[in-house]
Amino acid sequence: MPNNDVVVVILAAGKGTRLKSSRAKVLHPAGGRSLIEQVVAACSPLKAKRVVTVVGHQAEQVSGAIESYDVEIVLQQPQNGTGHAMLVAKRALGNAKIAIVLPGDAPLIRAETLRALLATHRAGDAAATILSVVLADPSGYGRIIRKSETRVGAIVEDSQLTTEQREVNEINSSIYCFTLGKLWPALAKVKPENKHREIYLTDAIAVLASAGETVLAQVAPDAREGLGCNTRADLAEVDRIFRERKREELMTAGVTIQLPETVLVDPDVTAGEDCTLEPCVQLLGKTKLGERCKIETGSVLQDTILGDDVTVRVHSVAEKSRLDKGTIVGPFARLRPGTHLKAGARVGNFVETKQAVIGEGTKVPHLSYIGDAKLGAKTNIGAGTITCNYDGVNKYPTTIGNKVFVGSDSIFVAPVRVGDGAYIAAGSAITENVPADALGIGRTRQTNKKGWAAKKRRQMAAAAHAKPAHKKVHKAKKRRR
Ligand code: UD1
Ligand code: MG
Repeated sequence: MPNNDVVVVILAAGKGTRLKSSRAKVLHPAGGRSLIEQVVAACSPLKAKRVVTVVGHQAEQVSGAIESYDVEIVLQQPQNGTGHAMLVAKRALGNAKIAIVLPGDAPLIRAETLRALLATHRAGDAAATILSVVLADPSGYGRIIRKSETRVGAIVEDSQLTTEQREVNEINSSIYCFTLGKLWPALAKVKPENKHREIYLTDAIAVLASAGETVLAQVAPDAREGLGCNTRADLAEVDRIFRERKREELMTAGVTIQLPETVLVDPDVTAGEDCTLEPCVQLLGKTKLGERCKIETGSVLQDTILGDDVTVRVHSVAEKSRLDKGTIVGPFARLRPGTHLKAGARVGNFVETKQAVIGEGTKVPHLSYIGDAKLGAKTNIGAGTITCNYDGVNKYPTTIGNKVFVGSDSIFVAPVRVGDGAYIAAGSAITENVPADALGIGRTRQTNKKGWAAKKRRQMAAAAHAKPAHKKVHKAKKRRR
């Protein structure tokens, strides 16, 4: 159900001093996306009237990170606190009735939790509803100070707690629903009375509560949803949780994952039923696996599309490639962008490919470089074959037809074409086109010199015998001194 009277406000203008980074906090990645992207992605199922993001520190880069989403950007300059950030966003919120406010640094929040928070806010006709979290160690966070079991009286920041309040372990996640008609007059009364001289959004809670408005707090179903990323350790923990969620999603969809905690999968990756991921596999970017694919240990696939029944053997790397049905890659293969293996093709150990089409059933089993090349079907490429595609300035294509047999250690000096059914003699340097069904041989003919080696040995032995032995000893002694 669309929420036409609701706007989402994401506060992402802060620097994140505690990360000790030259990069704004919300640009740091966790779970395969920047924090800010994770938050925007979590909000999009709500179908709010508008999503407004407040940026400030590294504004351009932060806006850039979410430019593919339908988000409105508001600039907060300078950053005078979370309350100030809301005031800066006021005009962009228009006449919406309710705002869901989130910090840009709490990326584990789920749309279901936000929906439930909104429902509580509406049902309670509240001025504010806070998503709270109960933590064993609440230090660093603002605490929820309840005035009754159901009502909140204030949020007190960590630096301003009394000894008694320090015991409270229900904290403010910084995720709230506000009825905007009530928030604005309350925020107008908030003064920057804290050591940073900032206007805290959290101070509006006490203003609302003391004016008799309803302020509610709903405890998050999963404490992790309120986890903010203030330190590198927080980032690592949040990343771990995202990766775990993604692996669980794949396992639910019928994927076997061995030693799951070692496997890293980006959020947009999909995999069909009965795929197997061995330990230490990484599936990155927009990688898609068909059904029954097996990705063996240590392999990394980035933006790579696999058909059904593909095997990627140990320690292979593929980027922006296509592996059609039944293809086998590796072990130790490197497929660079623009590689396309057609059905049943094989690329074996220590083979590098780039901008290369490997035809149906064609094999490149060992130690080759195939770049800017098009190979037909059922062709066999011998060990050590190289396409010489680059003259230092330009790149040129190599085209090899169907059912071609290429002997080992051949080089193709591009541009060059080899017709269907041709043979290439091992050790050839092919610099000219080879017609269909021809033998291409590009090397000097071998000559055997009868008795040459035996004669050579005799000469060497005679020379050694002729040298006076004492001279040698004398020299050796000299050197030692
Ligand atoms: C805030 C809350 C605290 C809560 C904690 C949860 C306040 C004053 N405190 O503290 O009660 O327990 O989050 O993680 O709100 N931001 C702006 N403009 C600013 C300042 C901050 O956009 O001028 C943004 C930041 O980029 C960040 C968010 O607001 O995404 C929260 O700011 P942060 O500095 O992380 O506040 P905390 O100290 O974590
Ligand atoms: Mg924070």
